[in-house]
Amino acid sequence: MAGPAPAAHENWSSRLAFMFAAIGSAVGLGNIWKFPYEAGEGGGGAFVLIYLAFVFGIGVPVMIAELSLGRRGKMSPPNAVRSVAKQEGRSNLWSIAGWSGVIGAFLVLSFYSVIAGLTLSYMVDSFSGSIDTLDASNSADYFGSITGNFPLLLLWHAIFMGLTIAVVARGIHGGLEKAVTWLMPALFAILILLVTYAMAVGDAASTFTFLFQPDFSKVTLETVIQALGQAFFSLSLALGSIMAYGAYVPRDVSLPKSAFIIAGADTAVAILAGLAIFPIVFQYGLEPGAGPGLVFITLPVAFAQMPGGILVGGAFFLLLAIAALTSAISLLEPIVAWLEEHRGINRVKSAIGGGIAIFILGIGSVLSFNYWADVTFLRGTVLDNLDFLTNNIIMPLGGLLVAVFVGWRMKRISIRDELAPKSEFGFALWLFMLRYVCPLALG
Ligand code: PFF
Repeated sequence: MAGPAPAAHENWSSRLAFMFAAIGSAVGLGNIWKFPYEAGEGGGGAFVLIYLAFVFGIGVPVMIAELSLGRRGKMSPPNAVRSVAKQEGRSNLWSIAGWSGVIGAFLVLSFYSVIAGLTLSYMVDSFSGSIDTLDASNSADYFGSITGNFPLLLLWHAIFMGLTIAVVARGIHGGLEKAVTWLMPALFAILILLVTYAMAVGDAASTFTFLFQPDFSKVTLETVIQALGQAFFSLSLALGSIMAYGAYVPRDVSLPKSAFIIAGADTAVAILAGLAIFPIVFQYGLEPGAGPGLVFITLPVAFAQMPGGILVGGAFFLLLAIAALTSAISLLEPIVAWLEEHRGINRVKSAIGGGIAIFILGIGSVLSFNYWADVTFLRGTVLDNLDFLTNNIIMPLGGLLVAVFVGWRMKRISIRDELAPKSEFGFALWLFMLRYVCPLALG
């Protein structure tokens, strides 16, 4: 096998560890911050239905393909795809399917960390009681005062990247696995508590109508595209994470079954996040379609008014921060894995070096909230451009390449060997989706 020598790749120590890590990657700001406001803007139940169709119709097939490439190549995404392409007698150029992931992860983490830093800031301010005085008239100003404060936002961005580096530097067993085995159960526990609380004190009836009664009059082509982008982002596809995690999956773990569990858990969390947020929003007569400000501007108003809001609000932002951290480590992992095996730099140095480079790029996104808020080009601020580039170009392109490579360029016998399909019908359906439906949708 030509190309870089395969690193002595470790395996997850158990199937559960892999599941926690992959679900941790999928469950993030996308589920708790983005999904509820996108559903709010996109016709509630109508958006949810379209989203579900994309998750299981497009996302799961691509996830199975990515996991297969990772496990078969047993290296970081670019080298894994190159190695599989070689085994299949295909061009080295297919490694672009892995490269786009590593580059995309680098770009996404740079701004993901800034938003995650914002959740840390809100968490501390909630627990300390300093946002307990917010009301509808000053909540947006408060948000502006935090995001307008360059050093503060930079500090939180640095702290969040520091946490991410600290986990990834410790490696698969001592870092990632350990972190997710503590954080994921904590995340589920907080989420269940918040949903129970919201259902008990909030307006559950309006929430159910809003989230589950489809209003197709609000659906536009843009809503559909947004739902597809959200499904991809939420499942952590095409950004190297799932492929990199796939490289550590033991041979006896079923990849299709894993993909369904990951997608199911991810979707459940997105919907539960809606069930934690909207009952409170409706109960306090607030606006459900407030866009990105739903979590940072609308919700704090409700937390400030409710009894025990300091704890409920603090717990909510803690939930967001945990979700963001377990996703961020999965974004740093493919980069570190590549630096390690390709450049021979040890893990600690790779994590620190890669993390610092990402932190520096992220300063552009920090500035987009304050000093550079009016500096716009192409699609808007630096942050808008990074978001556009990754969401609208890199992710669909990476997903398309993965689907075409696995669907059309790998030998059936290799795919069968990797997936060991139990059902012929399931296998045929998966291949059909991967060969025809996914390329069409992503193209
Ligand atoms: N899935 C994460 C979320 O929903 O917030 C974000 C993410 C993590 C996207 C890792 C892509 C990725 F590779």
